[in-house]
Amino acid sequence: TYVVTDNCIRCKYTDCVEVCPVDCFYEGENMLVIHPDECIDCGVCEPECPAEAIKPDTEPEMETWVEFNRKFSEAWPNITTRRDPPEDAEKFDGEAGKLEKYFS
Ligand code: SF4
Ligand code: F3S
Repeated sequence: TYVVTDNCIRCKYTDCVEVCPVDCFYEGENMLVIHPDECIDCGVCEPECPAEAIKPDTEPEMETWVEFNRKFSEAWPNITTRRDPPEDAEKFDGEAGKLEKYFS
């Protein structure tokens, strides 16, 4: 599976949702997640993210992100069409500690 990681927070570009063949993105207030059981591992969303927030679970230490994505995809609504990102999205791209600072 692929998962969304913390650099999505407050960037939320949503380019990813347009390309997913199985529509498995879910939307929280300031980030998206992927449902790990619905993702078919096609990989097309990964290069679409301007913030490079989407990663395959084959990268080291991704278990926590898989669980995070599962938990919130079961609580949040599905999103299938792109939205305008926050006006200050660029400012947050690459900032450290976003999960602790901003996740809501
Ligand atoms: Fe969707 Fe493919 Fe990305 Fe999985 S890897 S979330 S199926 S676009
Ligand atoms: Fe987030 Fe990147 Fe999608 S910033 S909303 S994972 S395009």
